[in-house]
Formats: sequence, C-alpha cells, structure tokens
Amino acid sequence: MPSTTISFARGAPSLDIVDVDGLRAAADRAFAKDPAGLTGYGKGTGYGPLREWIADQHDVDAEHVLLTNGSMQADAFLFDAVVASDDTVIVELPTYDRTLLSLRGRGADIRAVELESDGVDVAALERVLKTGAGPKLAHLIPNFQNPAGYTLSLAKRQQLVELARAYDFLIFEDDPYREVRFSGESLPTMLSLDTDPGRPGSGQHVVYASSFSKIVCPGIRVGYLVAQPELIAKIAKLAVNTYIAPNQVAQGIVNQFVRSEAFPASITKVKTELATRAAKLGEALNRELPDARFEVPEGGYFMWVELPKGTDVAALHAAAAERGVVFTKGTDFMLEGGEAALRLAYAGLTVPEIEEGVTRIADAYRSLAAPAVDAA
Ligand SMILES: Cc1ncc(COP(=O)(O)O)c(C=O)c1O
Repeated sequence: MPSTTISFARGAPSLDIVDVDGLRAAADRAFAKDPAGLTGYGKGTGYGPLREWIADQHDVDAEHVLLTNGSMQADAFLFDAVVASDDTVIVELPTYDRTLLSLRGRGADIRAVELESDGVDVAALERVLKTGAGPKLAHLIPNFQNPAGYTLSLAKRQQLVELARAYDFLIFEDDPYREVRFSGESLPTMLSLDTDPGRPGSGQHVVYASSFSKIVCPGIRVGYLVAQPELIAKIAKLAVNTYIAPNQVAQGIVNQFVRSEAFPASITKVKTELATRAAKLGEALNRELPDARFEVPEGGYFMWVELPKGTDVAALHAAAAERGVVFTKGTDFMLEGGEAALRLAYAGLTVPEIEEGVTRIADAYRSLAAPAVDAA
C-alpha cells in the first residue's frame, strides 16, 4: 500500500485555502474591541454583533437568527424542536449522511425523494404530499448538494415554496455551500422566496441554516439558523439548557473576519482553487475511468460519480483502500440504493493528489472487473 492515503472522504478545505493570518488578525481585533463580550458566557442565541451581521445578510431582524457551534448543532436543535418520533420528514435521495443518521435516531418516518441534476424531483414530492403524508419538514440542500454537487433550479425553488404553503410544512433549507459558487448565476434562497414583497421576515414556511465551515474553516464551529422569532425563542431555550451559550470567542472572531476585507478575499481564494480542483477531477475521471458518469459541479465540495449498474461500491471501497485511497460509498447517503455510486470530496486535496487518487481508484475498479485467474 502507498505510504500516504489520499482521502476523497472529507468535506473539509485543505489548509492552503484557509486564511490563517486573516483569522489571527481577526482574533486580535475581537479581543481588543470586546474583551467582555468574548470572555463572558453570552446568550443562548449567540454573539450579538454577528447575529446582527447575519440578520442583515438575510434582510431580517436579529430576533430571527440563532447562532450555534457549527450548523450540525443547528440541525439537531431544529429537529429536537420540530420532529417527534414517527413524524414524517422528507429528504433528498441521496442526502447528507449525518442528517439521515440524526433523523433516524429520532425515529422519524423518513421519505426519500429522488434528486435530479436540477434538484429534488418536485413532481415526485408532490405525489408524496397528495398521499396525505403530512410531513413536518422537508430537508433540502439547495446549492452544490452534499453528496451530489447538484443545485436546485429557480423554478423548483419557487414550486417548493408554493407546496410548503399549500400543504403547510416547513422547508429546512440547509445551505452551507451557497457562497462557494465558481460558475453560473447565484440563485435566491427559498427563505427569501417565502417572504412577501415589502415585508422582510414575513415567510412562515422556510427555516434556513448555514455555516462558516466551508468559507472560513470548519474548526471555528460557527453555524446558524434563520427562522420565525417564536421558533428561534423555542430553540434558544434548548440551547441554554444544552450549553448555556455557544462559543463566544469563535463567534467574536468570525464577526471581525466577515466585516473585514479578508472575508471576500478568502471566499475568492476558496472558489478559485475549488474550481480548478473540480475541473481537474473531471478531467482525471474522463481519462482514467471512462465508465464513470458525473457532472462537474458549479460550486461546492463534492462530485457524485455513478459507475455501471452491477458495480459493487463496497468491494471498490475495499480495493481502493488497499491502494491507499478512500472515498464515501453511495450507500451511505441513502436508505436504500447507491450500490454503484460514490462521493468524491475534492476540497481537501491538491491537484496532484486528485490525479493520483483517481489513478488509484481506476486501478481498483479494473481489479474488480478483471476476470478470475485460472489457477490450474
Ligand atoms: C449539507 C450540510 N449540512 C450541514 C453540515 C455541517 O456543517 P457544520 O460544519 O457547520 O456543522 C454539512 C457539512 O458537511 C453539510 O454538508
């Protein structure tokens, strides 16, 4: 086995695209400007100035925003507040594996609706609604979906908001990749589409979550929810009972960072680098693994790769690991199916690592397809 394992498994940026110097400077400013705010417990809703900044970004008042330690924590609080055992919840097929685990753990009745390259199959979702499923919420990842890399079209965003209003369920818009768009047009959030014209914050049917993990760094653990103030107040109580308040130091640093010129510069760096990595991954797959079917995403961290029907992704995973390369099996993102698919996360790898990694996966794939050697 090669000495270093190449991992396509982690949705995290490589160190070279994290602005460490910018973060150190932001930390200095944060402690200098607000030592009491950073070192105190703070409030369950999070560090006030960052809450204000996020509220401005989404054109709502600060009472619509709650900050958490990473958006996974926001997801968990939302599910605790809204989803009881046996409640119906719609997810995309495939979807983020941790969301699936979290919903399973809560005993939710999970209905998976096929994801298409322009987002969830809205007609199929409507058929589920027409059966009287009465979902509490629909979890959707609109931009550069994890694991598929696909983006929900504008028309589908509008249709989904209409459906949520008509059938009175919550859309959980889980959107950590929105800013990592490296080609094509940015699309409005469903949160904004749910808002009546001239009435900021009026939408009742979308809860929005995002995070600084993918555009600043995951170690900072700052995520957030945007929702109606009543729901935010309910979740704030859960937050206080869980940890009194989220990490004020991290949020104080993010607050200084996002208000400085370092922030847009850092996003540009992430986007430029990831555009190259995604393109090089596509080229390497075309060259080394012509059986692979995929779309090069317009942003984000992931590419979804389908291999011919009958491919055993578990066997491929094992053969690839022997060759020093790991990825995530398609089956991890689905209640059933995905046996011939895999997710390749390219954000944490350099171009030479991506090329070498694909060469190793292709070798593993050929080893599975090779006819058995006749020992006689
Ligand atoms: C769709 C989605 N939601 C939430 C998260 C969790 O992000 P955070 O680091 O903010 O907890 C991820 C991380 O990969 C993700 O892909």
